[in-house]
Amino acid sequence: MKSLRNLPIFAIIITLAVGCGSEPQKPAPGTTSKDSETSDATGNAQKGKSLYLTCATCHGQNAEGMKALGAPALADQEAYYLRQQLNNFRTEKRGAHAKDTYGAQMAPFSKTLNSESIEDVIAYIKTLSGAKIEKTIEGGDAAKGEAYYNMICGACHGPGAKGIESLNSPKLTGLQDWYIERQLHNFKDSIRGVHPEDKFGAQMQQIAVDIPDDGTISDLIAYLNSLHAE
Ligand code: HEC
Ligand code: HEC
Repeated sequence: MKSLRNLPIFAIIITLAVGCGSEPQKPAPGTTSKDSETSDATGNAQKGKSLYLTCATCHGQNAEGMKALGAPALADQEAYYLRQQLNNFRTEKRGAHAKDTYGAQMAPFSKTLNSESIEDVIAYIKTLSGAKIEKTIEGGDAAKGEAYYNMICGACHGPGAKGIESLNSPKLTGLQDWYIERQLHNFKDSIRGVHPEDKFGAQMQQIAVDIPDDGTISDLIAYLNSLHAE
C-alpha cells in the first residue's frame, strides 16, 4: 500500500476490492471463540438499549451527537462501519495516539463491550432517529469541494458520500462538519490511521496527507454540508 498515492484511482479500487474487501476482520485479542462465532449475528436491540445508556451521555439519546463533547452522530451510520470503529478503539488501533484527546475519551467505553455486545448496541443505535445535521462551519466553495470529492473521495466513499461497504469506507452524510474536519486533520497529522494494524485507516491516511491545504478541507466540508441541505 506504500505506493497507493501514485496509482491511478481505478487501480486503487481494484487493489482494495480484491485485497481487502472480502477479508473478514480478525477477532480482537482476548475474545473467545464464542465471540467470533457470533460476530456476524444480528444483535439484540433490547439488550443494546441498556448498553447504550452510557453512550447516550456523549452521543445523545437519539445518537444525534453532541458538539460540546466532541461526540459525533451515530444514528445514520452503517453497521459495518460502527462495528469497524468500535473494534478499532477496543484494540487500540484508534484513540491511543498521545495527541488524540477525543479518541482517548471514547476508547475506555469501547472496552466495556465484547464482540457480542457490540452487535447488540449497534442493533439499538440502528433504531434511533438522530437529528437534522446542522451546519456549524461557514465558508468554503461547495462547487470546488464537489469537484475534489468526485476526483478523489468518491471512488471510495461513493456517489453522494453514502459509503461503500466492500471498501470498508463510511458514509460521510449524517456526520457533523466539526467532526469531519477533525478527522481529516487527524488523518493528515498522523494522529489517526497510523497504527501498524489499522489497514483501513492507513488507506484514508494516505489520501488525507495529499489534501493540499486547509482551503481544500473547507471546500470539501462546504460540499458535504450541501448534501444535508434539503
Ligand atoms: C465520554 C464520552 C463518550 C462516551 C461515553 C462514548 N463515546 Fe463514542 N465517541 C466519543 C467521542 C469524543 C468520539 C470521537 C472520537 C474522535 O474524534 O476520534 C467518539 C466516537 C465514536 C465512534 C466512531 C464514530 C465514527 O464516525 O467513526 C463510535 C462508533 C462510538 N463513539 C460509539 C460509542 C458507543 C457504542 C458508546 C457506548 C458504549 C460510546 N461511543 C460512548 C465520546 C464518547
Ligand atoms: C482509498 C479509499 C479512500 C479514499 C480515496 C478516501 N477515503 Fe475517506 N476513508 C476511507 C476508509 C477505508 C475510511 C475508514 C477508516 C477507518 O476504518 O478508520 C475512511 C474514513 C474517512 C473519514 C472518517 C469518517 C468517520 O466517521 O470517522 C472521513 C471524514 C473521510 N474518510 C473523508 C474522506 C474525504 C474527504 C476524502 C477525499 C479527500 C476521502 N475520505 C477519500 C477510504 C477512503
